[in-house]
Amino acid sequence: MGNRQVPKKILVAVTGASGMLYLQSFLRKIEELEVVVHGICSEAGAKVLGMEKGLLPRELPTVSSWFDCRDFAAPPASGSSGYDAMLILPCSMGTLAAIAAGMSANLIQRSADVMLKERKELVLVVRETPFNRTHLKNMLTAHDAGAVICPPMPAFYLQPASLEEAADTFSWRLADQVGLEVPGRRRWGAEE
Ligand SMILES: Cc1cc2nc3c(=O)[nH]c(=O)nc-3n(C[C@H](O)[C@H](O)[C@H](O)COP(=O)(O)O)c2cc1C
Repeated sequence: MGNRQVPKKILVAVTGASGMLYLQSFLRKIEELEVVVHGICSEAGAKVLGMEKGLLPRELPTVSSWFDCRDFAAPPASGSSGYDAMLILPCSMGTLAAIAAGMSANLIQRSADVMLKERKELVLVVRETPFNRTHLKNMLTAHDAGAVICPPMPAFYLQPASLEEAADTFSWRLADQVGLEVPGRRRWGAEE
């Protein structure tokens, strides 16, 4: 994590891609940390969260306020709101495309655009398989604009014994990306 500043306020956006296990894992991992977490969930995000986890966004841990995805007057729509980092977890190909094109057509897309213009950390947990050429081009465009493309890939070399443990290994990586030190984080080579 080097000299990176510890974030005080982060934004977690949920879109309609598969992988809500990773969202739940990450929010649990940062639950005890001194960080304010606000959320935005797209309509498709809420649908997939319900299908995969049987949960509503407000039933997730750690997020203290949820903003309406259609509300362009909500704080994250402005660069003055002062978020240190934003994660889109998981990030659909539709939202990725909108960010790459600078669409700002809902609060998630607008907030991501704000993070990029303010040169703040924006992490996209993109999920689709396989990727087509458009997906790959959009990832490169978003990367070149300053986003971190961070697909959910667990560290199987840490021998996770369950899906949840596999997801946790990815959550540690995500936490590293936004400068959060998660208790119990295992690091390769640190246990000998
Ligand atoms: C069960 C389910 C799983 C989906 N998984 C993905 C996925 O992994 N990646 C993706 O790009 N879209 C996926 N979609 C499609 C998106 O939800 C859809 O493109 C939606 O318009 C995305 O909107 P949003 O980006 O505003 O959330 C899935 C949809 C459903 C219902």
